[in-house]
Amino acid sequence: MVDLVHKNHVLISVFSRFGISLGFGDKTIREICQEKKIDLQFFLEIVNSFLDHDYFPREQLKSFPIRLIVDYLTKTHHEYLTKTIPEIESVISGREGICYKDKEHNFLMNTFFQEYKDELITHIKREDEQVFPYALEVEQCYLQKKSAESLPDKFRDYTISRYLQEHDDVEEKLFDLKNIIIKYLPPPKNPRLCYRVIVLLFNLEKDMNDHSRIEEKVFVPKVAMMEKVIRRKNSRQ
Ligand SMILES: [Fe+2]
Ligand SMILES: [Fe+2]
Repeated sequence: MVDLVHKNHVLISVFSRFGISLGFGDKTIREICQEKKIDLQFFLEIVNSFLDHDYFPREQLKSFPIRLIVDYLTKTHHEYLTKTIPEIESVISGREGICYKDKEHNFLMNTFFQEYKDELITHIKREDEQVFPYALEVEQCYLQKKSAESLPDKFRDYTISRYLQEHDDVEEKLFDLKNIIIKYLPPPKNPRLCYRVIVLLFNLEKDMNDHSRIEEKVFVPKVAMMEKVIRRKNSRQ
């Protein structure tokens, strides 16, 4: 397990979504997964998709239950909202000192960040409250060999392709925010603090790219496949 962290320290945040914290000693991945009751194969697939982008998308990831994938995605959302965003906010809002000499520049950076944060909250809320519950219902229907008729009324007309179409790119706004700091704002009064903001934004962007890839390349195709089966049952009746 230690070797994995030495290979890529970003994995530490992935581990925390599985309930694994630092201090592994000499335990192997298998031992830790057994101890924490984590599906070893699922854990390895997620880790590998982080380490090697060419490794993606893996057919194997699609073979895992939606419940496992949704659980991992939900925990990632929770981490963004309760840890990552507040951490960036604390630096950007000036609680630890100000980045720029002029008030208006600090204000501009903060305003842009707040806009990004609002967009991210809306994005996550839709997935947590609408898309993931829908996917879990579809999986239930599929496993119990029922038709789409058995879906709760509120989900009857929903489709996962609609989600994919509406899956807006929150990373784009993050890219704009980074550009404002790198390109358009004047040289900062406190370069180290500003550098910290940039590093935090780059880390979040990388993590979110991986997160969205799992949503679009693993989660959506898996739900679409089950949808097809339960809706076919409908048309036969
Ligand atoms: Fe998400
Ligand atoms: Fe998303």
